Amino acid sequence: MANLEIQSSRVGIIGVGNMGEAILAGLIRAGVSHELISFSVRSPERKTEVEKKYQVKAASNIALAKESDILLLAVKPQGLDELLAEIASAVNPNAVVVSFLAGKKTALLEDALNPKQSVIRVMPNTPMMFGEGMSIISSGKNVQESDLEYLRRVLLACGKVIEVSEDLQNAAAATSGSGPAYFFAFVEAMVSGAIKMGLSEKVATELVTQTIVGAAKMLAESGKSASTLRENVTSPKGMTAEALAVFNEGKLQDLVARAMQAAADRSRELA
Ligand SMILES: NC(=O)c1ccc[n+]([C@@H]2O[C@H](COP(=O)([O-])OP(=O)(O)OC[C@H]3O[C@@H](n4cnc5c(N)ncnc54)[C@H](OP(=O)(O)O)[C@@H]3O)[C@@H](O)[C@H]2O)c1
Repeated sequence: MANLEIQSSRVGIIGVGNMGEAILAGLIRAGVSHELISFSVRSPERKTEVEKKYQVKAASNIALAKESDILLLAVKPQGLDELLAEIASAVNPNAVVVSFLAGKKTALLEDALNPKQSVIRVMPNTPMMFGEGMSIISSGKNVQESDLEYLRRVLLACGKVIEVSEDLQNAAAATSGSGPAYFFAFVEAMVSGAIKMGLSEKVATELVTQTIVGAAKMLAESGKSASTLRENVTSPKGMTAEALAVFNEGKLQDLVARAMQAAADRSRELA
């Protein structure tokens, strides 16, 4: 069993796209030295870009599988079967394998690699790129506390971390994994509403963006719930109350719950 140490464990990342890059930046922020990190991507241009930007070395998937103490998988879920067919027989049986792939179960990876393999599943989200991510961790059946400690430290350098049992991963993914897109869609709708009332796109975008950033900061830092903060802005029979009444007419809560359920169902289908 690998005893993972930030100062000495070799880390391999297969796939350095949006998520892989956020994780790579997190490893460096968590104090993992550049010499301990290797990665792979398919395109030669991306390989050169990542090598230059982060001063880390590219290697083949097979070399990463053999030599990493902790192997991080951040390819698209659709590419997993092909990747496993390539690396399964090479993966170090003592390595901790961490999958960032939406929907893919730890048991699937244990079956493909080794029934004793330590496998951890993480659902990240894109604000990780700015150190404000939300990572949801679930452990496979062979995971040791020391494996989790290492991963927690890396993910904490990318935002917040919680652990849930694996049967809640689809629900969690439909909440924080896809969640940033819900808020972006709401921002788009508000910008469009402001433009309809006569504001320019530039002004509308600035008003809405600063409003969501300010509201998010209030939620994170005031210690008050969303309900209290909403009530504080809503005087009886005032203008905000008029807007919220329209949301209620359109059954906003029900609409959002149905959207999230659809995301969770899709996550299950993609597994
Ligand atoms: N983006 C999100 O909002 C989000 C949220 C939660 C979870 N996730 C999960 O994060 C994972 C990665 O998503 P992403 O948005 O980062 O995808 P992405 O930007 O498309 O990145 C995928 C990376 O994998 C590389 N790759 C693909 N096949 C490979 C192979 N066989 N060997 C080596 N490298 C390979 C690609 O390299 P090339 O570019 O060179 O082909 C690219 O660097 C997904 O499984 C997704 O479920 C993403």
